[in-house]
Amino acid sequence: MGGRKLLMTFPVTATSHTLADYRARGGYETLAKVLREKKPEDVTKEVAASGLQGRGGAAFPVGRKWQVVHLDDGQPHYLCANADEGEPGTFKDRWILENAPHLLLESMLISSYALQVRNAFVYIRGEFDLPYRRLAAAVEEAYEAGYFGTDILGSPFACDIVVYRGAGSYVCGEASALITSIEGKRGYPRNRPPRLTVKGLYQKPTVINNVESLSNVTGIVRDGAEAFKKVGTPKAPGTRLFSVSGHINKPGVYEVEGGYPFADFLRNELGGMLGGRKLKAVIPGGISAKVLTAAEIEPLPLDQPVFEAAGSTLGSGGMIVIAEGTCMVRLLQVMLRFYHHESCGQCTPCREGMGWLHRVIDRIVAGEGRLEDIETMHHVSRWNDGTTICGMGDAAGYATVAILEKFRDEFEYWIANKRSKCNGVLEVGNA
Ligand SMILES: Cc1cc2nc3c(=O)[nH]c(=O)nc-3n(C[C@H](O)[C@H](O)[C@H](O)COP(=O)(O)O)c2cc1C
Ligand code: SF4
Repeated sequence: MGGRKLLMTFPVTATSHTLADYRARGGYETLAKVLREKKPEDVTKEVAASGLQGRGGAAFPVGRKWQVVHLDDGQPHYLCANADEGEPGTFKDRWILENAPHLLLESMLISSYALQVRNAFVYIRGEFDLPYRRLAAAVEEAYEAGYFGTDILGSPFACDIVVYRGAGSYVCGEASALITSIEGKRGYPRNRPPRLTVKGLYQKPTVINNVESLSNVTGIVRDGAEAFKKVGTPKAPGTRLFSVSGHINKPGVYEVEGGYPFADFLRNELGGMLGGRKLKAVIPGGISAKVLTAAEIEPLPLDQPVFEAAGSTLGSGGMIVIAEGTCMVRLLQVMLRFYHHESCGQCTPCREGMGWLHRVIDRIVAGEGRLEDIETMHHVSRWNDGTTICGMGDAAGYATVAILEKFRDEFEYWIANKRSKCNGVLEVGNA
C-alpha cells in the first residue's frame, strides 16, 4: 500500500493472515487490555471521540451509530460486519479479509464488548473465494485460541461469530437488505424508521458497519482517539483505503491519509496515467459516486467534505480513473446494465426506471437514438430522487445525470453519427 503516514499500516507477508503472525504484531493484546481495564461505554466513547466515519459509502460517524444502542435495555444486540463489497470499482475490504482477517476479528470482538453483543455476524459477498477461506480459517484459529466463545480470556465476556455468505446480490450490501438476507428471507431493503439500531436483525438493536470501518477500532482503542485524529483532516480523520482501477500504471489498494492531494496520489502512488495518456475523469467512490472531470478533481485533496462540496463523494473508496479516449456513452451503458440487473424491484421508479434507462441507452448505442432521448434519460433518472426505499435508486439516478450533464456532447455525437465520438480508442475497462 502507498500513501503517507499510514495509521493502519499492516505490511503484507505470506503469513500476515495467520494468528501466529498477527500475535507477533501485538494482535489481540488490545482486546485483552479492554477486557481487563475498560467498561463497554468507555470503548464507545473513545470511538465516538475519534470521529471515525463509516467507510461503506455514507460516511456516517461510527460512534454516533453505536451510541443509539442502550446497553441496559435488556435486549440482545447484534453486530454485523458488512463484507458484501458489491459496489463496482470497490475491492478494499477484500484486501483486509485476505491479508488481515484477525484485525477485523479483534476489532469485532472489541466492538461487540462495547455494544454488549453476544452474537456477531460477518456478511460476506457470495463471489468471494480467497477472502472467505482466509476469514473462515481465521475464525477457526480465533476460536481455538479462546478469543470467541464463553469466558473470553478469563473474563465474563462471551461472544460467538457467524460468517454468512451472500448469494451474489448487490442490494444485499444495503444494511437492511443484509439483515433480511441473514434472517433467511429474500434480501429486500426496508423502509426506515425504525432505525436498524432500534429494530434490526430479528427485530433487535443491530449495528452494521463496513469491514474497513470496524478494522479501525483496534487501532483507535489501542492508541487513543487523539492519535487517530492527528492523521487526516478535522472533519475526516484517519486514513482511508482506496481501491484504484482504470487507466493508471499501478492499480491496487492504497491506504491514504485524509487530505492527501489527488494530483500527488495519482503521480506518486498510482504511477501516473497509463501510457502517458491525459486524465479525462474520475469516478471517485464506486460507480454510485458522481463522476468528476479532470479539471474538477485535479485540485482536490482526498477529503470527504471537500468531495461533497465538489458535488461527489469518496463513497466506498472505489476509485475508477478514466483516460482521454474512453467513451462515456459506453461507460454509462455498462453502468445501467448493472443497475437494471441489480434493482430488487420493490420500488416502481427504480424497477421500471432502470429498465427504461438501460433500454434507451442500448438504443442509442445501436444507432437508433433520438436527441430527445437525452432529456428522457434525465427525467427518468430524477424520478428516483427521494422516492425509493433504499439508496440505490437515488444514487443510480444521480450518477447517470452527472455523466449526461458533463459529457452531453458525446451523447449528441453518437445520436447524430451513430458511433462514438471517441472512435473507440479506449473501450470501457480496456486498460
Ligand atoms: C445498494 C447498496 C449497496 C451497498 N453495499 C454496501 C457494501 O457492499 N458494503 C458496505 O459496507 N456498505 C454498503 N452499503 C451501505 C450500507 O447500507 C451501510 O450504510 C454500511 O454498511 C454501514 O457501514 P459504515 O457506516 O461503517 O459505512 C450499500 C448501500 C446501498 C444502498
Ligand atoms: S431503490 Fe431499487 S434496489 Fe432499492 S429497494 Fe427500491 S427497487 Fe430495490
